Amino acid sequence: MTKQIPEGVSREKIWDIGTRLFHWALVICVVAAWGLGKFGPNIMTLHFYFGYAVIALLVFRILWGLVGPAPVRFVNFIYGPGKTLKYAATLKDRKPSYWPGHNPIGALSVFAILAILIAQVSTGLFADPDDYINVGPLADMVSSGTNRTATRLHNQMSTVILLLVLLHVAAILFYKRFKGENLVTPMITGWKLVRKDRS
Ligand code: HEM
Ligand code: HEM
Repeated sequence: MTKQIPEGVSREKIWDIGTRLFHWALVICVVAAWGLGKFGPNIMTLHFYFGYAVIALLVFRILWGLVGPAPVRFVNFIYGPGKTLKYAATLKDRKPSYWPGHNPIGALSVFAILAILIAQVSTGLFADPDDYINVGPLADMVSSGTNRTATRLHNQMSTVILLLVLLHVAAILFYKRFKGENLVTPMITGWKLVRKDRS
C-alpha cells in the first residue's frame, strides 16, 4: 500500500543516476581504501587502485557540481549563516524537512567530506613512508621533507575521515529515527518527498 503524501509535499526525482552511482561507488572505494590502508597487506597496490578510483570519482563530482543537474550543483547548496541557523533551529522538530536537495547543515557535511577526500588523495600521491615499497606516484617530484609531511597528514586525516563518515551516518539515522524522514531510499531510487514551497 502506498502512503498518503502530506499536504504541500510532492514526490520528485531529486538525485540523478550519476550522483547516485557516484555516491555508492564512493562509499565502496573510500571504505576499501581506508580498510586496506589500516588493515591491508604491506604491499599497498590495491590501496592505490581504490585511491585512484576515489580521484576519478572526485573529478566527476566536481564537474557535476559545476554543470550537473540543479539539486547537485554547488551554487544551489551554498547557504549563508542566516539560512543555516534558521534551518538549525528546526532540527529539534520531530518532523521531516522535505528539503529539495541537501539541507543547509547537510550541505556543510557534503563540502567537508569532499574537501577532506581531496586532501587525502592529494597527500597520498606525494606520500613516501620510507619503506621503499609504497611510494606515492608523485613522491619523487618533491623534497623528502614534503614526503614526510604528506605521509603524516595522510595518516592523521584518515582519522578525520572516519569521524566525518560516522557523523554522516549518525545524521542519517537521526533523520530516520527522530524526524521520521528516510533519506537513504532517495539516494537509491532518486525519488524524494519534497516541499512544494521553495521560498
Ligand atoms: C565512506 C562512506 C561515505 C561517504 C564518503 C559518503 C559521502 C557522501 C557524499 C559526498 C554525499 C553528497 C552526495 C552528493 O551530492 O554528491 C553523501 C550524501 C548522502 N549519503 Fe553518504 N557517504 C558515505 C556513506 C553513506 C552511508 C553508509 C549511507 C547510508 C546509511 C549514506 C547515505 C547518504 C545519503 C542518504 C545522502 C544524501 C543526504 C541528503 O539527503 O542530503 N552515506 N554522502
Ligand atoms: C580516499 C582515499 C584514501 C584513503 C581513505 C586512504 C587511507 C589511508 C590509510 C588509512 C592509510 C594507513 C595510515 C596509517 O598507517 O595509519 C593510508 C596509507 C597510505 N596511503 Fe592512502 N588513502 C587514500 C588514498 C590514497 C592515494 C590516492 C594514494 C596514492 C596513490 C595513497 C597512498 C598511501 C600511501 C603511500 C600510504 C602509506 C603511508 C604509511 O605507511 O605511513 N592513499 N592511506
